[in-house]
Amino acid sequence: MPPRSRQEIVLALSEHRRALEGVHLRDLFAADRQRFDKFSLEAAGLFLDYAKHRITDATLPLLLELARSAGLEARRDAMFRGERINVTEDRSVLHTALRNRGSDPLMVDGSDVLPQIRTVLEQMAGFCRAIRSGALTGATGQRIDAVVNIGIGGSDLGPVMVCEALEPLLDGPRPHFVSNVDGAHLGRLLKTLDPERTLFIVASKTFTTQETLANARSARAWLAARLGEAAVGRHFCAVSTNLEATASFGIGPERVFAFWDWVGGRYSLWSAIGLSIMLAAGPERFDGLLAGAWDMDCHFRNAPIARNMPVLMGLIGVWYVNFWDVHAQAVLPYDQGLHRLPAYLQQLDMESNGKRTALDGTPLTYATGPIIWGEPGTNGQHAFYQHLHQGTGWTPADFILPLHSHYPMGEHHAMLVANCLAQSQALMQGKDAAQVRAELAAQGVDPARAEELLPHRLFPGNRPSSTLVLDRITPHSLGALIALYEHKVFVQGTLWGINSFDQWGVELGKQLAGHLLRDMGAGAPEPGVDASTAGLLRRYLGSLQKTENKAR
Ligand code: F6P
Repeated sequence: MPPRSRQEIVLALSEHRRALEGVHLRDLFAADRQRFDKFSLEAAGLFLDYAKHRITDATLPLLLELARSAGLEARRDAMFRGERINVTEDRSVLHTALRNRGSDPLMVDGSDVLPQIRTVLEQMAGFCRAIRSGALTGATGQRIDAVVNIGIGGSDLGPVMVCEALEPLLDGPRPHFVSNVDGAHLGRLLKTLDPERTLFIVASKTFTTQETLANARSARAWLAARLGEAAVGRHFCAVSTNLEATASFGIGPERVFAFWDWVGGRYSLWSAIGLSIMLAAGPERFDGLLAGAWDMDCHFRNAPIARNMPVLMGLIGVWYVNFWDVHAQAVLPYDQGLHRLPAYLQQLDMESNGKRTALDGTPLTYATGPIIWGEPGTNGQHAFYQHLHQGTGWTPADFILPLHSHYPMGEHHAMLVANCLAQSQALMQGKDAAQVRAELAAQGVDPARAEELLPHRLFPGNRPSSTLVLDRITPHSLGALIALYEHKVFVQGTLWGINSFDQWGVELGKQLAGHLLRDMGAGAPEPGVDASTAGLLRRYLGSLQKTENKAR
């Protein structure tokens, strides 16, 4: 039989979706004792339970057919080969090359990129070893004990998330991160730092990002005011693809760590952007992170798509967005160290797949990337889980659970695990009227009052989730986890036919902020600025005027 068209597959999925209307996950579990074995999978040291999803034996074959019709395998292979799949920026997409441990060359524009990658990794490792051992000191001969990464977006979120997750294993200078242009971010940190012992990393792919350059200039001025201009070179280094700009900022070439335009900002923690991670955790742990990601890359590249973790996660996400009209995804790590993972995934997923235009430039007629949000358990349980359990809409959730804690302490970890399992169980099962009535009767509530309370105490259940289990957070498992999500985003972007590797949507705001800064300099909004923006700007300028008058 010839393959069905995309439209035919979508129709079949829509029909299948209608057939599942009113089918409860509780009943699917009751009807199939093999459900957990059937809908679970292990890869690169991670275990995925996807049994608590609104899927039957018929669902995944249809979704896999959709994936094939979108050319998923061919596009995946093209990405790994270094083809220019980022068409709007005319670039290859090769963050996977940064962790490539193979021996085959990887040619981009006629040259093998692997030796370049390994050279920079060696340069980073040499620098990190020298700083960590104290062989390389600050200008006054003091050992460096604090590292401040100044960067934003992909030049911040990955390193900060990884350093938080690996905190129990950090044995180098303390890592700090400054991203926000709000002076409070840098100002609050500077109060705690000793300039003689501080190293600043200016991390910016383009080295043109307004926030990063403002923070870098202020940090530089702070240091120069305390240790003198001549000390700056010993306390600054840079990570960028723009070597001209790092030079004009005054950072010597021996302290610049390069990467390449085929590494997207939000995919860059594996590159020199990870310098703060390597300084804090050491080159061996950084290598462990790369090894974990590489294991997941190999799985993604080689496992059949029906048993492929990023593919399955991506397809289940598409199932909810496009066939159940659900446009959110919760990320709920049951690990305090992963508290920045939701923020990291917001950029990874929403900057990649928050798109409304197809690769060929036509407007899409279907929904794409969902809203990603979350908090670590159990904090979220005491905040927004009410909405997850009883809100009118529902949100699929990813529970992420390490089996072992780096901080074993009494019953804490058992309590954490119990809470994690209980939440996905509660979302799936719900609580029906008979259960609520029995509970209220057992509590001695009179029957009339029980009937009044009943609707408030019902849990609909049938709310889907995945549970991702790791043995413990290590560089390897963390690397595999991050790569898993990178590839999940890729799978979804491919099914939606969009370019997951550009981010034009962030440009307009940047441009307008530039105009408004100019207007501030001129003391008034430009003619033609809308009344709301002009009014707000005048209010700001007026408040400046009042402050100046008072100061006189
Ligand atoms: O916010 C847009 C963006 O371009 C992100 O994609 C990127 O991660 C971030 O800004 C920082 O960019 P850069 O590393 O060039 O300073």
